[in-house]
This record gives sequence, structure tokens and C-alpha cells, in this order.
Amino acid sequence: MLDLKRQYRPLHKELLEAVSHVLETQQFILGDEVSAFEQAAAAQLRVAHAVGCSSGTDALWLALASSGIGPGQTVVTTPFSFFSSTSSILRAGARPLLADIDPSTFNLNPPAVEALLNGPQGASVRAILPVHLFGQCADWTSFARLAKERGLKLIEDAAQAWGAQWTNPDGQAVRAGALGDAAAFSFYPTKNLSAAGDAGMVTTNSDEIAERARMLRQHGMRRRYHHDEIGWNTRMDGFQGAILQVKLKYIDGWLQLRRTVAKRYHALFHAAGLAESGLYPSHGIVLPHEVTGSRHAWHQYVIRAPRRDALRDFLTARGIGTAIYYPIPIHLQDALQGLGYKPGDFPETERAAHEVLALPIFPELREDEQQTVVAAIAEFMS
Ligand SMILES: Cc1ncc(COP(=O)(O)O)c(C=O)c1O
Repeated sequence: MLDLKRQYRPLHKELLEAVSHVLETQQFILGDEVSAFEQAAAAQLRVAHAVGCSSGTDALWLALASSGIGPGQTVVTTPFSFFSSTSSILRAGARPLLADIDPSTFNLNPPAVEALLNGPQGASVRAILPVHLFGQCADWTSFARLAKERGLKLIEDAAQAWGAQWTNPDGQAVRAGALGDAAAFSFYPTKNLSAAGDAGMVTTNSDEIAERARMLRQHGMRRRYHHDEIGWNTRMDGFQGAILQVKLKYIDGWLQLRRTVAKRYHALFHAAGLAESGLYPSHGIVLPHEVTGSRHAWHQYVIRAPRRDALRDFLTARGIGTAIYYPIPIHLQDALQGLGYKPGDFPETERAAHEVLALPIFPELREDEQQTVVAAIAEFMS
């Protein structure tokens, strides 16, 4: 599914030097390497501020809390994501309200959100938290319009979307991370831009949100041992700052290679006669697509397949790694039964949970390996 050693081998000398520099300076928590990474990351994303922290989950909480989201407020998000898109809303003291996805992109569906805002619970909503799932931006033009009309904050879950881009109605291409009031990135080792452990980052164009995020990531301290608010310990460590700085220099090249891999899958599936048009699979495979005018970061290449579980078993038996993101939607998780949702509440999400299959995709994946994947799927389908 993913071979991180192929990325590590050519970089190993440079990474060891970066790690060794942290040992020499003994700056283990925040420090110069984290600051330098924050500056370089902000420049690359063309956003005013980047605030490093200890995970994508903490970045989501920090983004919400520093945007003033808290108790008594409601945040709309998607049930088709990793758990922390919702749990971070609860962690901030707010209430999550879920809306279904657009089946063509798997992202939060703006008309479903608008219906919620017009409903009885709409009045308490203060923010929308769309997820750029699998590396494709949520429909930002629609969410920006909704937010403007109703005075809502927009928080991006950009955990999977380093390198994604959305073209706004003025024709400007804006990077994920610079679209909303604040955004959260994860640098978990499997992500497009990855640390050697847990790490995350908040980005924002707001001086105020950035300042609050820096304060909240260090126990609410602006001055040492003066606690203005109850924050948390969610600092990025020096090793991760140093490693991420090295990888940031290569990320654009890796993103290009991800595009090449995605294009190759597309061509191979079409050549094998397996690609089926439409939203749902009946006899073939529904391929992922890039929304016109946007740039997909291809964190995952997720197909919809009939008899998905049998296909997955078939591929596993041939040594081909796949993954299901996500087998159990958020509204059906045991831990979140208190939200009061039940099976059938989000039909598109529940259908996707039964049909999606993520195929191997990473910059170093070879063409012959992709041919093997597609040939095995063809064998299964026949
Ligand atoms: C969409 C999404 N949001 C949030 C997170 C949380 O990031 P982390 O694992 O760094 O806490 C992840 C990572 O798995 C994710 O995929």
C-alpha cells in the first residue's frame, strides 16, 4: 500500500544531518528548527501564518479553539472522514452537526449543509468544517458563499491535502490551508508531507487566530508561567521541525509524481475496459476524478467497486495492499452514539463506506506495480 523506505533511502544523509543538528543544539521543543519550518511552510502555501503542533488532531482542536469556537456553539462537518474531524469539535466544547457527502467527490455536500442551516438547528451553527478528503478540496466556492451569507467561520480539515488547490471565483488558485479562516494539517507518517512521528500545523491569514493558536499550544501562556487561558500542551518537537524542513524542499516533486501515478491508473483502467461512468459501480469500477479548476493532491486513489470486500480479499491474497477509508461512518461509531444519529441518516456516506477501496499510491510507485494492481482487478472482475 505504501513503501516509505523508497522516500527515505535517497534522503537518508540529509535527514540524519538535520536530526544531528537538533541533537547538537539541544532544541527539542519548538525552537529554531520548528520556526524555520513554520516560515517555509507558510511561504509555500502562500498563507500569512503557520503554527506547528503535535498532531493533525491537535491542529483541528487548535484551529477551532483559536477561532473562538467553544461551548454552546455548533459546527457542521462530514460523517465520512477520520474520527478526529468530529472528535476535535467535541474536544473544543462545541457540538458537531453532520451533513451528507457529495457522492462524486466524497466531500461534504454544500446543499446538505445549506438544508441544515435552514433547519431548526441552524441558528446555533457558528462554523463549517469541511474536510479535503483524499487530497481533493471541498467545494470552497459554495462554502465561502454560505459562510459569508450567514457570518460563519470556515475551518479546513486539510490533514490529507498538502498541495491541493482550489480556484476561487476571481480565478485565483488558492492552496488548501489558505482557503478558510483557519486550517489544520497532519504530518502523520503516511501523509503527503510526513514527519518521523506525530506532528501537525495550523495555518491562517488572521494575525489574531495565529496569536491565539501560539498561546493555546503552550498552556495558554503568552508570558512564561502566566496562564491567560486553559490551553494544552501541543507543541511540535525540534526533530519533526528539522525533518519536515528537509522534506518540504522535495514535496512539489513528489506531488507531481502522485499526479503521474493517478493519471497512469486512469489510463490503465480505461485500457482494460474496467472504468464505468456514473456515480456508483454496477459492472465496472468508478474512478476518482479531479474537480474542474482544482488541483487534487492525490493523497489517496479511491475507487468504488462492486463486491468491494471480496475484491479486497482477492487482492490481499495476491500480495496487493489496499485500504478502506472509512469502513464505519462517524455517525455510526460507538463513541458518538450520544449524538443521536442512526443507520440510514446519511445514505451517501453509508453507501460510500460499502463501496470505496483505496489502491496503492505514493510518488515512488512503479508503472509495473500499477499494471499488476489493474491486472489483478481485471482478473477479479472477469
Ligand atoms: C481527515 C483527517 N483529519 C484529521 C486527521 C488527524 O491527524 P493526526 O493523525 O495527525 O492526528 C487525519 C489523520 O489521520 C485525517 O486523515
